[in-house]
Amino acid sequence: MRNSTRSDVDPFIVMDVMEAARRAEEAGRHIIHMEVGQPSTAAPAGARQALATAMESGSLGYTVALGIPELRARIAQLYGDWYDVDLDPSRVVVTSGSSGAFLLAFTALFDAGDKVGIGAPGYPSYRQILKAMSVEPVMLETAAENRYQPVPSDFVGKGLDGLMVASPANPSGTMLGKDDLGALIDAAQAENTAFISDEIYHGIEYEAKAVTALEHSDDVYVINSFSKYFSMTGWRVGWMVVPPEHVRRIERLAQNMFICAPHASQIAALGALDCKEELDANLQVYTRNRQLMIEGLPKAGFDRIAPPDGAFYVYADVSHITDDSRAFCAEILEKAGVAVTPGLDFDPDRGAGTLRFSYARSTADIEEGLRRLTEFMANR
Ligand SMILES: Cc1ncc(COP(=O)(O)O)c(C=O)c1O
Repeated sequence: MRNSTRSDVDPFIVMDVMEAARRAEEAGRHIIHMEVGQPSTAAPAGARQALATAMESGSLGYTVALGIPELRARIAQLYGDWYDVDLDPSRVVVTSGSSGAFLLAFTALFDAGDKVGIGAPGYPSYRQILKAMSVEPVMLETAAENRYQPVPSDFVGKGLDGLMVASPANPSGTMLGKDDLGALIDAAQAENTAFISDEIYHGIEYEAKAVTALEHSDDVYVINSFSKYFSMTGWRVGWMVVPPEHVRRIERLAQNMFICAPHASQIAALGALDCKEELDANLQVYTRNRQLMIEGLPKAGFDRIAPPDGAFYVYADVSHITDDSRAFCAEILEKAGVAVTPGLDFDPDRGAGTLRFSYARSTADIEEGLRRLTEFMANR
């Protein structure tokens, strides 16, 4: 049968690495997982309990398209708690993960042929989803001295219809400070470029608090998720905050594209919002792991790294060691039994010389992974 050209997207390479690691495990090997970008912890107990109760008492049918009103209100309250931002719950849209939010946002904001700037390195699915919607991703090559975040001069004058940023970012873990984020929003708005802020790693920050784009402007799309800080990747629930005049448009799209985000997951998400203690305990583990990584990776020979501000990744420049990060990852998996992700996922041009290490797993795993990496590099 025929295929569309827009569906001709690249694979998500980290998924291929996960599959190679799974095959190695099936063959009896013990693998340390530094490739996966997800917590190994379960959804918080309060989330599971809320769902258990709801399952016994209700049918869990469709919800309204924008999400359960109590959940939208509780998410709005989070903006008061985290950033001192007074947010009208009617602007909150509950989605099927941030991935569902991207589909809604890109459909609401862009037409076929429009151009959307995304920083490289950056989360690979932005460009693949845009392409699948016949929107043109414009890769903005960010500089190490700008901590791999875009600056206005990277896009001003390029005629972009949209700009997508992430802070903390995947894979670099770097954050945009208040002034830098504000400068990007102002520059985008001056060019009539829609500004989308991916804030999925908020809550997982180490030295300074992450800033939301809503602290600077209401005329932005903000996307977030229960996947990372709330430890609920597989539940497929996230949210988006949109300008008031966009709500009805998004509602019409959501009704038709998704009907609603999974009801069960919305119930669990509402429970998760009251589990601060448990979630902060997870954060303690990431904090300890981050310290081990920024001390241990240079000792192992991966010394071109910057301490991440947030998320749970370290992005390493290995261009002095290899010009083929994919083959290098395969070698690390084979010889060290550690799965890591080649930078090609995040930066098609420069990623042959970079790797992403995830430290979302247990501290014991991180210690063992660093020990294996050190031994591997010493014998190479
Ligand atoms: C920057 C970024 N945005 C979005 C996502 C997708 O997350 P979700 O599970 O909310 O769809 C990820 C997943 O790793 C990510 O790293």
